[in-house]
Amino acid sequence: MSNRYAIILAAGQGTRMKSKLYKVLHPVCGKPMVQHVIDQVNQLQIEDIVTVIGHGAEKVQEQLGDSCKYALQEQQLGTAHAVMQAESVLAGKSGITLVICGDTPLIKAETMEALIALHEKSQAKATILTAYADQPDGYGRVLRSENGLVEKIVEHKDASVEERYVKEINTGTYCFDNQALFSALKKVSNENVQGEYYLPDVIEILKQAGETVTAFQSSNFDETLGVNDRVALSQAEQILRKRINELHMRNGVTIVDPLTTYIESDVKIGQDSIIYPGTMIKGRSVIGTDCQVGPQSEIINCVIGNGTEIRQSVAQDSQIGNTVKVGPFAHIRPESDIQDSVKIGNFVEIKKSVFGKGSKASHLSYIGDAEVGENVNIGCGSITVNYDGKNKYLTKIEDDVFIGCNSNLVAPVTIAKGAYVAAGSTITKDVPQEALSVARARQVNKEDYVKKLKFNN
Ligand code: UD1
Ligand code: MG
Repeated sequence: MSNRYAIILAAGQGTRMKSKLYKVLHPVCGKPMVQHVIDQVNQLQIEDIVTVIGHGAEKVQEQLGDSCKYALQEQQLGTAHAVMQAESVLAGKSGITLVICGDTPLIKAETMEALIALHEKSQAKATILTAYADQPDGYGRVLRSENGLVEKIVEHKDASVEERYVKEINTGTYCFDNQALFSALKKVSNENVQGEYYLPDVIEILKQAGETVTAFQSSNFDETLGVNDRVALSQAEQILRKRINELHMRNGVTIVDPLTTYIESDVKIGQDSIIYPGTMIKGRSVIGTDCQVGPQSEIINCVIGNGTEIRQSVAQDSQIGNTVKVGPFAHIRPESDIQDSVKIGNFVEIKKSVFGKGSKASHLSYIGDAEVGENVNIGCGSITVNYDGKNKYLTKIEDDVFIGCNSNLVAPVTIAKGAYVAAGSTITKDVPQEALSVARARQVNKEDYVKKLKFNN
């Protein structure tokens, strides 16, 4: 196998996106486009990956970290000029170089591998990944001679009316002989409608030098979609969403309505879990087996065990154990640790709290900055008073505690093991083990008082 290198083009501004955010950083199914490209390229055995950065260089670098090397393109003079910037890293090396645009997020590693395989088999100096587009507007067109050989690529803006009828498009992904690439690049000019140095011109240059140039025709245009504006962005989102949902379904997850289920790229879901309509599962969420999520739920970066139910609820950056029941209409905020068999019922908000095994907050509670032990029952409407306007304080509720309805637990405070708090109490002092704490005004019944009031009027 020859040495392999890759160049990812990601220096453009993305004018057509009309956005403050640099084009290649726009997310598709929750992950920036250029990250999708890197993640796929990383599945191939590549020695050096060089990402060409320019607009938003720092932000792109921040996103990709040390997963690749970088070359800076200070002025964006075209895709050929962009590839030239990788010269200091790659020139003179022998092997093959894959070039991919950072705005084609859907190309799979297996397609890149097939492109490389054809390139090696045909001993070509360049192999283009092409596809057939029903609406090829905007793409470079692949022009072939009468005997079907690739001759050159013409950009949409430079193409004649006839050439624009050609439906075979350049996907912007190529495999080159590394040395042939860098020597051909020197011959690219910018005499064209856009005044740019076009990478696709390398094809004609190699061809005219008598080199072998070939094309790998993808049968799936969707995979090669280039995202230049927000319409294409939404198409990419739709295509990838379908691909992700199908993958989960094939792995044994039931998705009741894939059209309204939004699962981001890095999410993992176990077998026999059911995802109900209107649900978004985002970030690095991991959901176990036999869970039920949704309808209308949003799960962001949560790790969820097996057999857990989450209905009409939002959970973020938290851990949720096995056989937990959440919702409907619950909100689990970041840094919460909801342990096995817990019940978080309707209109309950949990923030940065541990909830021990088997504990319950079934209705209308706010539990923030709390450590709740095992088998605790938090009555309807009870809250932790964790904030004095300046600082946040901890509430500790030990195992087997029973908090009566509508209690305020003013932190910092500890309710020790097995204690009871009477309904309506405002607890400001620690409650000892197995004590009953009552902290409310005594009830006074004034006999016949109403009658007197009425009589006096
Ligand atoms: C490009 C191809 C076109 C192909 C299409 C596939 C050229 C001239 N045209 O057109 O044949 O059909 O992709 O999607 O190559 N970039 C830089 N530096 C630059 C210019 C661009 O890094 O100076 C990067 C961009 O960030 C982008 C990629 O190169 O990720 C492609 O540039 P873009 O402007 O999107 O080219 P297209 O018009 O889509
Ligand atoms: Mg593009």
